[in-house]
Amino acid sequence: MLIAPARGNLHKIVVLNPKGGCGKTTLATNIAASYAMRGPAPTLVDLDPQGFSTRWLHRRPSDRPQIFGRSAYQLKMQGRSAVHLETHPETETLVIDLPAALSPDELQDVTYDAGSILIPVMPSVIDVDCASHFIADLLLVAQIDRRNQQLAVVANRTRQNTRSYRMLLRFLASLQIPLIAVLRDSQCFVHAAARGIGICEMPSYIAGKDIEQFRPVIDWLAGCRVRRLQATMPPTFEHRSSVNPPHLAKH
Ligand SMILES: Nc1ncnc2c1ncn2[C@@H]1O[C@H](COP(=O)(O)OP(=O)(O)OP(=O)(O)O)[C@@H](O)[C@H]1O
Ligand SMILES: [Mg+2]
Repeated sequence: MLIAPARGNLHKIVVLNPKGGCGKTTLATNIAASYAMRGPAPTLVDLDPQGFSTRWLHRRPSDRPQIFGRSAYQLKMQGRSAVHLETHPETETLVIDLPAALSPDELQDVTYDAGSILIPVMPSVIDVDCASHFIADLLLVAQIDRRNQQLAVVANRTRQNTRSYRMLLRFLASLQIPLIAVLRDSQCFVHAAARGIGICEMPSYIAGKDIEQFRPVIDWLAGCRVRRLQATMPPTFEHRSSVNPPHLAKH
């Protein structure tokens, strides 16, 4: 289990899908780059022993906004039931990139205390089939409650109006899981990955369309953060008074 520091303002974002190559690292690194541009510096946690997001971070030019990094080998998680993650006190956002092929048991551990869980899915018959089993595990084994609005899907490398895209939409509607963004297949993601940057750091005349398609991801995450902060805040006077209105109090 990966335990983040118990700080009210810390937002843990988990990107996962046991299907390989669906865009977990792409999504995680682009989220980290977006938060870095807004500040304060986020922490990118790479739990994939292959270390692709760690390598992306190593390629990041030094003049780009800072992102702190933690990687699987640093955390030495193997065989340990709980690992406490140390983060820079400035960090308000943890973005966690996970490896493919997680077992259902591991799902509960990695989603522990997550503020947001994002699942990139490619609209192919095989990917949608894998996602349906995996999301069922997430809801049942990891006991993620859809009503908390912390779980969403991002359709990645999409060609709209294809049969498999419509299949993905039907599947998500049946599970009542929101599809918050639809990202096209674009070389901008490939070029950004090679340079250690996010698409939001590319000129808008090159990556404008992809930046626009990515924006709902950041907007949805902002909503999750607000809901989480509200849930942890002590009740305000209005809340207290609505529970026990002053004009009804006995004298
Ligand atoms: N929207 C996209 N358009 C074009 N290429 C993409 C897009 N998303 C991801 N890719 C490319 O697809 C490949 C796989 O993506 P990525 O590494 O993010 O997947 P992953 O789920 O992290 O894979 P793994 O399961 O191996 O960790 C990479 O080469 C990446 O650059
Ligand atoms: Mg990856």
